[in-house]
Amino acid sequence: MKTIAIAKGDGIGNEIMQAVLSVFQAAEVPLNFQEVDMGKWVYDKGFPQGMTPEAKQTVESLGILFKGPMETPKGKGVRSINVTARKTWNTFANIRIFRTLPNVETIFSKAGIPINLTVIRENIEDTYGGIEHFLNYDVALCRRFISRPGCEEVIKYSFEYARKMGHRLVTCGHKANIMKLTDGIFLETFYNIAKEYPEIQVNDVIVDDLCMKLVTQPQKFQLILLTNLQGDIVSDLCAGLVGGLGFAPSSNIGNSICIFEAVHGTAPDIAGKNMANPTALLLSGLGMLRHLGIMHQAALIENALYVSLENNDRTIDFGNKAYPALSTTEFVKTIIANLGNSPKKSIIPDLPNYVLDSNHLNTIVENKIISTHNKPTMYLNGYDFFIESSTPPQTLIDLCLQPQLTHLKLTGISNRGTQIWPNFSVYTDLLETYCCRFERNDNQVQLGTSDFLELYHFLSKNIKILSTESLFTNQEGHKMYSTI
Ligand code: NAI
Repeated sequence: MKTIAIAKGDGIGNEIMQAVLSVFQAAEVPLNFQEVDMGKWVYDKGFPQGMTPEAKQTVESLGILFKGPMETPKGKGVRSINVTARKTWNTFANIRIFRTLPNVETIFSKAGIPINLTVIRENIEDTYGGIEHFLNYDVALCRRFISRPGCEEVIKYSFEYARKMGHRLVTCGHKANIMKLTDGIFLETFYNIAKEYPEIQVNDVIVDDLCMKLVTQPQKFQLILLTNLQGDIVSDLCAGLVGGLGFAPSSNIGNSICIFEAVHGTAPDIAGKNMANPTALLLSGLGMLRHLGIMHQAALIENALYVSLENNDRTIDFGNKAYPALSTTEFVKTIIANLGNSPKKSIIPDLPNYVLDSNHLNTIVENKIISTHNKPTMYLNGYDFFIESSTPPQTLIDLCLQPQLTHLKLTGISNRGTQIWPNFSVYTDLLETYCCRFERNDNQVQLGTSDFLELYHFLSKNIKILSTESLFTNQEGHKMYSTI
């Protein structure tokens, strides 16, 4: 029998994990569980990653972690254990399924519109590296990492998932109209990979429009694919469509390690009161069983949950107030009592004709390098200098135009991402932080370290330099950077 790692977590974690495991036990789920030490209480014991070395080793050797919510200690310098676990173990795809559940009332259920949506969110990159710094006192910057290999990994997985689950439509949500390079790679990769799945219809929607469409016509979507931050926001919006985070399971899928968890937090206000709703963790557990090919017990439990919900069994946070609220343990007892019963509506098939790839236990001995093959050559074309200056803008412009540099010339100045030279308006409010762009004055010359040093030397005599960026063109001469 397969063994998986479980971490109960903090707050209500222990109660809801016990609840789910008791349902698993009653349904004779063929799994062994090995508990690992993870969570705020482990930080408090002096482990800065929120897990013991033994816990890390156990998860890495078993490949599956089923976890309860975990509290991130407050204060600077501490990273969320949830985000760290997802990133460290390369769970590149976050899958969240949103379905209308019996007697979980929403405006759509009242209108008789059933919802069945899946959101897959890229789970590693984007702004989730938390790579931020103050450029100076007034300005903080955050790096947004979007990589071609990272996009390929999650998008390829999503199309495979769509094919296995029988989704006929895959939608890419993005903001490539504004973030033309980062979201641009995501969108371009989406359409490139889509060509390998001709039976699946594809489209793309700008993320703000997507939000509007989701709250007006959610039934028009099947599987939506998004980058990390946009996916984070859109998936919680979708949770709202089906009744809230208490009904939204989550799977974090990687090639070697997968993490299954509920997305709500530790609910400290109700912790220890036997009031918590275990549904989201139970549904996440069902996603895990299906991932492992344990289809029969997954269907048995899901049907029992649906029967309980149809009978208006409920914890205090949801459902028809005309029916009494049950404690966590009472609610779970009703699910266990309903094992083997079929709901009146929406019966879950016992053995669906899909089996997801449960062969995830790729033993890894060294880090895998994910890189684009046959990378085209890139040519250095110039530099952005982020500088601080309290002089009037025209003085700065004159100064930057003045240097007699060998191979570089000023081509643009921006302030807060708005061009102030060559085009300028007095109505643009300015910070004392500017980006001055210098590009090759002759496409035939090759820039070298001496050009950078010459520019740096000149500017630093007159201005405070905060940071610099190298700018490249590709073989065709296209700029690999946004215009100022
Ligand atoms: P929360 O989700 O814990 O609570 C928000 C509200 O929802 C509270 O009123 C709570 O009682 C209720 N609630 C949440 N889950 C419930 C459940 N299963 N049954 C019934 N009611 C439920 O969010 P909050 O308060 O922002 O965060 C509390 C802690 O949880 C923080 O330390 C945060 O870092 C952590 N957290 C952990 C997550 C994870 O482990 N994946 C995700 C989100 C937050």
